[in-house]
Amino acid sequence: MTNRYAVVLAAGQGTRMKSKLYKVLHPVCGKPMVQHVVDQLNTLDLKELITVVGFGAEKVQDQLGEDSHYVVQEEQLGTGHAVLQADKILADKEGTTVVVCGDTPLLTGETLQKLLDHHDREEAKATILTAHAEDPHGYGRVIRGGNGQVERIVEQKDASDEEQAIQEINTGTYCFDNAMLFEALKNVSNDNVQGEYYLPDVIEILKGQGETISAYQTPVFSESLGVNDRVALAKAEKLMKNRVNEQHMRNGVTLVDPDQTYIGPDVTIGQDVVIYPGCILEGQTTIENDAVVGPHTTLTNCHVGSQTTIKQSVATDSQIGERVQVGPFAHIRPQSSLGNDVKIGNFVEVKKAELGNESKVSHLSYIGDAEVGNGVNIGCGTITVNYDGEKKYLTTIEDDAFIGCNSNLIAPVTVGKGAYVAAGSTINQDVPSEALSIARSRQTNKEGYASKMKSIKKD
Ligand code: UD1
Ligand code: CA
Repeated sequence: MTNRYAVVLAAGQGTRMKSKLYKVLHPVCGKPMVQHVVDQLNTLDLKELITVVGFGAEKVQDQLGEDSHYVVQEEQLGTGHAVLQADKILADKEGTTVVVCGDTPLLTGETLQKLLDHHDREEAKATILTAHAEDPHGYGRVIRGGNGQVERIVEQKDASDEEQAIQEINTGTYCFDNAMLFEALKNVSNDNVQGEYYLPDVIEILKGQGETISAYQTPVFSESLGVNDRVALAKAEKLMKNRVNEQHMRNGVTLVDPDQTYIGPDVTIGQDVVIYPGCILEGQTTIENDAVVGPHTTLTNCHVGSQTTIKQSVATDSQIGERVQVGPFAHIRPQSSLGNDVKIGNFVEVKKAELGNESKVSHLSYIGDAEVGNGVNIGCGTITVNYDGEKKYLTTIEDDAFIGCNSNLIAPVTVGKGAYVAAGSTINQDVPSEALSIARSRQTNKEGYASKMKSIKKD
């Protein structure tokens, strides 16, 4: 099989976005555009993937990490000049090179595969992925000759009125014979309205050399949406959201109102999960079968076990077991782990804490930097006092302990197995297993106090 390479163009500043954030890093469904592109390319069998970066390069490299190699385009002189920067790595290689723009987040691996298959079948030296656009404004147009063969691509700004009427557009995605691509790039000039070195000019150059040029038209225009401004960004968001949501519904997930459900592309959801409106599920979140999420719940990088219910809550970077109840209005902060059959009720905050099976924190508590065993009951208003202004300390609560309401547990401290802490206690020493600890001032009752007050008032 011929070797396959890919070049992702991501060096443009994206002036039309009017943003501090580098264009290709703008997220679509919570994932940066360029990451979408690279993830789809990585479904192909590639020998090497190279991203062309420019202004803001480090941030793109931070995002993509080892998913890509990088070349820097110091000055943004156009898409042809951008690809040319990869010649240090690719110029002498034999094989096929796919070029994709970092601002086309909806492009799928399937379409890229079809493009490659078409390229191979036609034995072409260059194949353009084209699409039919209802409104082609802003895209390069595909100019075909009398015989229907692709002749060249003309950019919006260089197009005559007649050419502007053409609705077949260049999606900015291509396959090339690698060696011919880099040879032809040397001959691309910047003699055009924008004074840029256009990659699509390679088509006309190869055509002029008598090479076979082909086009593969994708039936789904939406895949080729290029995001140049925030209007297009919102369109991309909507299209991606619909695509992701539809996939989950087809897999057996109920989305009560898909228009108001925001699910990231890397989220996994099991069968018979029900998601109520206003939910945002992001990152590497996994939800097992029969769970119920929402309304108005945000989960980021969480694992949620089967039959768990989470209402009106926020959870981040945490593990939530099976048959757990969370919320309404709970906050599960990073590095928390809830066992099976746990209950986290309203206005409870959990941070970097582990709770064993069947433990309950039903109302108004803060459990941070804690290890809580199985079957523990934590009463309303309990606080793990974990921070002295300098350092954080651990609270340990062993199996089956019972913490009375409105207790402060001043860490580092351990409440032993099966121990009781009386309501209103401030605990700053370990409580032995099976003991009852009361740490509050003793109550005194003054008999007849009210009538004494009344007689004082009369005098
Ligand atoms: C480009 C195509 C156009 C096509 C459209 C599809 C050219 C000249 N035009 O236009 O035919 O219809 O995409 O969306 O190629 N970039 C660099 N370095 C540069 C310039 C751009 O890396 O010097 C990168 C950008 O970051 C971007 C991509 O190349 O990801 C495309 O550039 P952009 O300026 O958005 O091109 P379009 O005008 O959209
Ligand atoms: Ca673009």
